[in-house]
Amino acid sequence: MYDRFDREINYLRISVTDRCNLRCLYCMPEEGIKLLRHEDILSFDEISEFTKVAVGSGVTKVRITGGEPLVRKGIVTLIKMISAIEGIKDLSMTTNGILLKKFASDLKSAGLHRVNISLDTIDPVKYSFVTRGGSVNDVLEGIEAARKAGLLPVKINCVVKESRKEADAVGVTDFCHRNNLVIRYIKQMDLVSGHFTTVVGGTGGNCSLCNRLRLTANGKLKPCLFNDIEFDIREIGYEEAIKKAIELKPACGTTNLTGEFFNIGG
Ligand code: 5AD
Ligand code: SF4
Repeated sequence: MYDRFDREINYLRISVTDRCNLRCLYCMPEEGIKLLRHEDILSFDEISEFTKVAVGSGVTKVRITGGEPLVRKGIVTLIKMISAIEGIKDLSMTTNGILLKKFASDLKSAGLHRVNISLDTIDPVKYSFVTRGGSVNDVLEGIEAARKAGLLPVKINCVVKESRKEADAVGVTDFCHRNNLVIRYIKQMDLVSGHFTTVVGGTGGNCSLCNRLRLTANGKLKPCLFNDIEFDIREIGYEEAIKKAIELKPACGTTNLTGEFFNIGG
């Protein structure tokens, strides 16, 4: 379906949980977050029914995000349900990779096409600092498992402060080149000011090309990451939420005052 600025809206990002097994400095406050109540989180049936309706409205690309999607109980079953929907040409997941060693092969069998894995540094000490306790080795093993399972192309999301010439980014770049991985650089966003920029090598952040809708873990459909417009799919119904979100998708984002990455999934 086309919006009023002639953008074809064909990409749905689905956040399946607000929980995460890491606490990245730029994403979460140290004390953690106020978690959604279980009854507010969409069920697998709600997510897959909504996705069916979205595909019926022209969505062909679906990305599963979080929080960290692999901490959602039964995630493999959910992937099976979504991959069974006719019309999805690209089914991907954004993950921090910590649990991929355990899940990669089952995710592939369930019908997931590919993964994007977050990796900002390959230095174990720095990684543990930035993620408040994560082990980079788990991620490296997760990347290998994803590749072996055929979740291709494996892409690496690397958050940089200023540029890709920074020491940590250079380290990740070398690692990617040595291992045949596609790398995308994401400029760190200041969640307080809401300043945002484009993702080098990706389509995010470029408003005139933006083709996405986002579904939050508690069922709010958002046409833009940097705008507070949202529609509750349970309240107004799936079809109506999609219609409204496409109709009211802004030309360009401004500041988002409520959105936080762990809830909307980047
Ligand atoms: N700025 C840029 N990227 C961020 N992410 C999380 N918080 C921020 C931020 N403040 C990224 C993660 C991951 C994706 C889901 O979002 O690193 O790659
Ligand atoms: Fe978790 Fe991703 Fe946020 Fe890090 S950036 S705390 S991995 S949701």
